[in-house]
Amino acid sequence: MTNQQTPRGPRPDPGTPDPAAAPGPGRPPRTGLSRRGFVTGALGVTAAGAAGAALAGCSAPVQQGAPSTDALPTARYLPFEGPTQTGITATPVPALGMLAAFSVQRADRAALAGVLTELTDEIRGLMSGRPPQTRDGAYPPTDSGLLGERPPPDDLAVVLSVGASLFDDRFGLVDRRPRELVTMPFLANDRLDPARSHGDLLLSLEARHPDTLQFALRQLMRRTRANLVLNWLVEGFARGSGIAAAGGTPRNLLGFKDGTANLDPADDTLMNRHVWVAAGGGEPDWAAGGSYQAVRAIRMFVEFWDRTQLAEQEAIIGRHKNTGAPLGQADEFAEPNYTDDAEGQRIKLDAHIRLANPRTPETADNLILRRGFHFTRGFDAAGRLDQGLAFVSYQRSLERGFLAVQNRLSGEPLEEYIQTQGGGFFFALPGVQGADRFLGDQLVR
Ligand code: HEM
Repeated sequence: MTNQQTPRGPRPDPGTPDPAAAPGPGRPPRTGLSRRGFVTGALGVTAAGAAGAALAGCSAPVQQGAPSTDALPTARYLPFEGPTQTGITATPVPALGMLAAFSVQRADRAALAGVLTELTDEIRGLMSGRPPQTRDGAYPPTDSGLLGERPPPDDLAVVLSVGASLFDDRFGLVDRRPRELVTMPFLANDRLDPARSHGDLLLSLEARHPDTLQFALRQLMRRTRANLVLNWLVEGFARGSGIAAAGGTPRNLLGFKDGTANLDPADDTLMNRHVWVAAGGGEPDWAAGGSYQAVRAIRMFVEFWDRTQLAEQEAIIGRHKNTGAPLGQADEFAEPNYTDDAEGQRIKLDAHIRLANPRTPETADNLILRRGFHFTRGFDAAGRLDQGLAFVSYQRSLERGFLAVQNRLSGEPLEEYIQTQGGGFFFALPGVQGADRFLGDQLVR
């Protein structure tokens, strides 16, 4: 059994291409631009600029990290329905991400079912570019109008997850809690800020452009404002996983390629083994097709890192900064050979990648699907940049996945440069198939 997390490259995207942009059988690719094509193209220019400006002050990491929009295939409306939520494994992974955590205001199972129904309908509409209803001018419009007449395709995906607090005594769901779903504890080196941690519900959004994300968030909040209150929000950029990301593997804010050895989301065998919760094994029936989601808002002390010698930086991670290859090798996707380096001469025994995945038979079960992104939040009272990694991982078991990896990383040299300040453990709901279904229906019925 292999313990590699080698990506296999982009798979054909199952989403719905914008029909106006697709060449179609026997037709040459179009050279002109439709109105919608123009809108998408214009977004590509203006919003990418806005992302750089708003998120990182036009600094170099954004330019390096965010895959060039030009290199990407045509943007699509992604399918919403499936046995699992499609946004967890959709490729290519769009450059921008957002996490929004909410608390449910009314302790009433019917109200919760109502929230889930409203959210599902809105996500369905958002992901398919459903045009807003037109209304009498005497009423407020049904959408913000941010994206015009019809939201253009932008690879928008929204994933809905539930937190451990939803299984307290408010909704009568105590006996339906996924077996391993607990409030995220303080782990070594953590300084969790309660104002940026946990939540009843979590929305994970991704798209190519910031206005698409803002539009989606506002729609979702407007549909649920009577019952949901926003607790915290993280917005960021430079998502991607391995060669599945057009333009190459994005770099993190420490300047290293991030995602090289991630699991390939297109590999169903790997996803079934490591990501999707299956029926049985002590899990409630409704949870099959869901996935445990670990979220960690990890501050990076970048000024300190930038004063560290290159050789030291590379030893801490275990990879060459320039190429992303394991130390001592030239190819980014080469397998680090730990058997031939038992003393840690090439890759130190406490290097991040070696601890995260020692590639031994005993740790072969500890693989996780990472789908995080990077954030900037201005600067702190000491004038230091407040930046970091919004780490997100999906796994079939928190204990065998995230927690096993995190426990091995505990005490790693990288800890001197990072500190986890927020996040939580969540459970991404199973997908739904059929217009009469809503996310979490089996949980609340
Ligand atoms: C700010 C914090 C972190 C930074 C800067 C960071 C950086 C990196 C980098 C540069 C790589 C190598 C490229 C790649 O394969 O993606 C990597 C790999 C990896 N990281 Fe992290 N990481 C961080 C936190 C975490 C956390 C919290 C976990 C899980 C608990 C984790 C798990 C992994 C895993 C599983 C790999 C792949 C190792 C392999 O298969 O070789 N990382 N990380």
